[in-house]
Amino acid sequence: MICFASLFWALLYLVHLSKADDPEAYMGAFDMIKRWDYPAELHDVITADGYILNIFRIRHGRAPQTNATCHRPPVLLVHGLGAGPSEWLLNPPASCPAFILADAGFDVFVLNHRGTTYSKRHITLAPWDNKFSQFTLDELAKYDTPAVIDKVLQITGEQALYMIGHSQGTITGFMTLAENPQYNSKVKALFQLGPIGTGTYSKGIIRALFILYDLLKPVADAYRTVFGSHEIGWQWSFVYRPLVRLCNIIPFGDDICDFATHALFGPSTRVLNMTRAPVYLAHIPNGITTWNGLHWGQLSSRHRIEHMDHNPLENIQRYGQETPTPYNYSLIDVPVYLFWSKSDFLTTPLEVEQVLMKELRPEVVKGSFEVEGYNHIDYVVATDCADTVYLPIAKIVRGRESDMCSQ
Ligand SMILES: *[C@@H]1O[C@H](CO)[C@@H](O)[C@H](O)[C@H]1NC(C)=O
Ligand SMILES: *[C@@H]1O[C@H](CO)[C@@H](O)[C@H](O)[C@H]1NC(C)=O
Ligand SMILES: *[C@@H]1O[C@H](CO)[C@@H](O)[C@H](O)[C@H]1NC(C)=O
Repeated sequence: MICFASLFWALLYLVHLSKADDPEAYMGAFDMIKRWDYPAELHDVITADGYILNIFRIRHGRAPQTNATCHRPPVLLVHGLGAGPSEWLLNPPASCPAFILADAGFDVFVLNHRGTTYSKRHITLAPWDNKFSQFTLDELAKYDTPAVIDKVLQITGEQALYMIGHSQGTITGFMTLAENPQYNSKVKALFQLGPIGTGTYSKGIIRALFILYDLLKPVADAYRTVFGSHEIGWQWSFVYRPLVRLCNIIPFGDDICDFATHALFGPSTRVLNMTRAPVYLAHIPNGITTWNGLHWGQLSSRHRIEHMDHNPLENIQRYGQETPTPYNYSLIDVPVYLFWSKSDFLTTPLEVEQVLMKELRPEVVKGSFEVEGYNHIDYVVATDCADTVYLPIAKIVRGRESDMCSQ
């Protein structure tokens, strides 16, 4: 079996070598910024619990900066589970979120959560230490996001910033403000793409994974207690990059890969560019850990937005009670804009209506926009994402910032 798999992979690799991939399939996310001639800066952030995170900065767009009087409001991009910072940088400039925003007049910052390729450092722990991977949504919201917000404000000298989250980045955005309400004054608005409440109303393969969590919960609990936490979303580009070639070379390969993508993320009306797929698969998945996955399962299964349920003893230490405490979304006090779609299997309209609209105070939701035909990943890879998502966001911000740069 192993022999056969190795041989298969070797053959595939040869086919793969005979085709030319885009250079981004062989670059780190940070180098992709330089590849398109955008100004790239890398900054370190140390969280209160000792993780050393990276943030990327794209200070301005590609056009020469001639206007010294205009203002570039900082915007922080918060990536989804398993996607890592690359998800904002995967496409050529015209359909690449980070570049579209830089060209639209923003000072762009890209957060790299703990455990992803650029944030695998800690002041005392090695990344292979089990303790390093012992984090859930709670730590991303309690430590990573606040530390990065403070760093961005320190670098730019601004009082507050805009945040754009995708998928898990929307949960951590909400949780950050509910957990640390003092950060409401540091966030001017939250733009949430494919926003997730608990995942209870998801569909397709993801729903099946959540159901699997329910079935395997006793095993998962035992595993979590005995073995701690592990990385499971390895960025094995040397495996995935050749594998995705199958989409291009076997009969009906395109259709099969389309089908798989749709079963996972939803029946998009946009065409995913399979020629570009080696770039996507060279960067994703990235940095998923078991504890984080289990926290997702817990939210969906109990249909409650709450902290990780460790065990009664540890819960008492962490929360002062035997059961995990809920997040209080009434404490979120910034303008929130939701972008969702009927074609999205993870963020269904029911998810928005039945979970988020009930948890958030109605007066903070300043906009709720349906993006027709988008599945869960189209927000970051669709060729028309500038028109459907990012230019509308820039327009809303421009309405609040009269002196914002126009490019
Ligand atoms: C698809 O990706 C390839 C490789 O990056 C690119 O050359 C081509 O223009 C893309 N097609 C579309 C329709 O964007
Ligand atoms: C949530 O916060 C609001 C606003 O401070 C407060 O009125 C409410 O009692 C809190 N709810 C819970 C369950 O703590
Ligand atoms: C520079 O930007 C400011 C603020 O957006 C604008 O009012 C002004 O007209 C711009 N100047 C030039 C020369 O484009």
